[in-house]
Amino acid sequence: MVREWPSVRRFFLCLTINLLLQAKADTFTINCSGFDQNGLDPTAFQSVFSKKAFRPVTNQNIPTRVNISFTLSAILEVDAQLQLLTSFLWLNMIWDNPFISWDAKECGAIGKLTVTAENLWLPDIFIVESMDVDHTPEGLSAILTNDGRIQYNKPMRVTSICSLDIFYFPFDQQNCTLTFSSFLYTVDDMLLGMDKEVWEIAETSRDIVRTQGEWVLLGINKATPKLSVGSSLFDQIMFYVAIRRRPILYVINLLVPSSFLIAIDALSFYLPTESGNRAPFKITLLLGYNVFLFMTNKLLPASGTPLISVYFALCLSLMVVSLLETIFITYLLHMATTQPPPMPQWLYFLLLHCDSLQNCCPAKLWKKNVNQGLTSTHLPGLKELGPKETEVSRNVGWTKAQQVDLWVQLGHVTDTLLFHLYLFFLVTSIITVIILWNT
Ligand SMILES: *[C@@H]1O[C@H](CO)[C@@H](O)[C@H](O)[C@H]1NC(C)=O
Ligand SMILES: *[C@@H]1O[C@H](CO)[C@@H](O)[C@H](O)[C@H]1NC(C)=O
Ligand SMILES: *[C@@H]1O[C@H](CO)[C@@H](O)[C@H](O)[C@H]1NC(C)=O
Repeated sequence: MVREWPSVRRFFLCLTINLLLQAKADTFTINCSGFDQNGLDPTAFQSVFSKKAFRPVTNQNIPTRVNISFTLSAILEVDAQLQLLTSFLWLNMIWDNPFISWDAKECGAIGKLTVTAENLWLPDIFIVESMDVDHTPEGLSAILTNDGRIQYNKPMRVTSICSLDIFYFPFDQQNCTLTFSSFLYTVDDMLLGMDKEVWEIAETSRDIVRTQGEWVLLGINKATPKLSVGSSLFDQIMFYVAIRRRPILYVINLLVPSSFLIAIDALSFYLPTESGNRAPFKITLLLGYNVFLFMTNKLLPASGTPLISVYFALCLSLMVVSLLETIFITYLLHMATTQPPPMPQWLYFLLLHCDSLQNCCPAKLWKKNVNQGLTSTHLPGLKELGPKETEVSRNVGWTKAQQVDLWVQLGHVTDTLLFHLYLFFLVTSIITVIILWNT
């Protein structure tokens, strides 16, 4: 009995080693002997490929964990009318397939293989906001590692719906959401994770974005709320993509010409009304502004009312108002020089009062003339004043010449007042628009 002990022990030892070897052999599902000399053997993968219709898990209660990341490589188009963002991105998915494993040492140190993706089960990750069918190209490959990890990259042209706010155009920023989720698998079957940190995604995307076009990528944020549809709960990852418009094109093509035109309109108040040049000049400007608006219309967003449209409308209204003002003043001066009605007392006192306040711009020159008594000879239509008419006017208390002087002076004071009112409105509205743009 005592002498038999070693053989029993040897027997158990052999059994244990055998079991261990057996167990070790079982952990590799793919027999890769000969891969290094004869190339890969498709029959070795047959058992894996034939199961591609099913989610690769040993127990259906275990959820598959898919880690995702993406690289945004271009922002192709932002359509304000349809509220769509078209971008191009590379989606990267990583998951484990427990039926794939081989011994890298036995197979000549092959640790990584590429396999055409159609032979494998693929997660059905899609973008919830996408408004287009998936145009994934055919024949993409996936990378397998010997521990069963599968990495699959696919390019996607994504046309996603995005709520665009163009009020601040062309100084606007947009915040679009890309939500990655599984089409069918609930949280019991599939969990999503991040393959990279979100700042890494933002950083690589910012480096890679090729287009020097209209939009600049500002940053990417993420959130991971679960989505519940009826009684089922879906895992999802939301990425907030913040983009900003490069405004320079619009500043040069819209704001600068418009500002020049309105500045010229303001300066044209310095043209003397008597010469009769001011009204035609303003009409020409108004025409020019209309042509400008017509030509730049296609640069503006096709829908909504951006602040810049309000600004254009304001400029146009100011031009129209200034033209009306010129017509009014021209009428007043014409009336004054041809047949001035007697001036009411209150208007006279008002004029005296206002005149003491005036010391600049169009009225100033005129006032000087009045003071020097040069008035009548400088005005057309005055020279025909006969002595008879002067007599008639004197009856009312003023000579006809004085009447004309007063009315003409009134015309110029009104002109100056309205000009200041115009300037005030112009400056206020420009400051308001600039403040609104900066908030
Ligand atoms: C692997 O296949 C080779 C023949 O291709 C066979 O000789 C070997 O025993 C197999 N190994 C295992 C562990 O099944
Ligand atoms: C996914 O990421 C988690 C944590 O970041 C990690 O533990 C897990 O191994 C990853 N899974 C795959 C399939 O890459
Ligand atoms: C984008 O919008 C989401 C909410 O809709 C918000 O959580 C996120 O901070 C916004 N991102 C930026 C950069 O404004």
